[in-house]
Amino acid sequence: MSVALVPGSFDPMTVGHMDIVKRALALYDEVIVAVMVNDEKCYEHTIEQRAKTVELTVGDLPGVRIVTSTGLLIDLFDEVGADAIVKGVRNEQDRAYEEKMAAWNLERNPRAKTVFLQAADDYETVSSSAARAMVKKGELPHEMVTPAVAAYLSELALEKSE
Ligand code: PNS
Repeated sequence: MSVALVPGSFDPMTVGHMDIVKRALALYDEVIVAVMVNDEKCYEHTIEQRAKTVELTVGDLPGVRIVTSTGLLIDLFDEVGADAIVKGVRNEQDRAYEEKMAAWNLERNPRAKTVFLQAADDYETVSSSAARAMVKKGELPHEMVTPAVAAYLSELALEKSE
């Protein structure tokens, strides 16, 4: 049984991330989506809220499992028995950044190789930060996230403003 690990911040999970998970499912028997912490980022949502956006987006897909971890990706890789890390890249900037992370991971765990999937053209401008910016303006980020996630984010924004 082949296992792919799809890690990310998912603040929130976008339709671009969903496409990567679906494409990973076509390549691997099981896809474990890991909601993790990037020390370089300041998050809008808690890890539980970020995991909820993943649950609402890909939770119903057969073969998908969702985990949260505040540890290192290379450790999680062995813990879940993954065969590969799968990351989506939209452009050269993404690729350069992801290649650096992949090299860092591989140096410390030679089993933890990363497979890159080029984002489809439709998702090139989709990003978690754009979704968050729309919610802040009071707009529903329908083209960025699923309708269920858009509703959830609006609910959270409303709670925050109360
Ligand atoms: O969606 P992101 O922010 O690009 O995801 C990056 C993430 C969370 C996958 C990355 O920061 C990560 O692997 N974090 C877990 C902690 C870790 O292993 N850090 C090592 C530095 S690469």
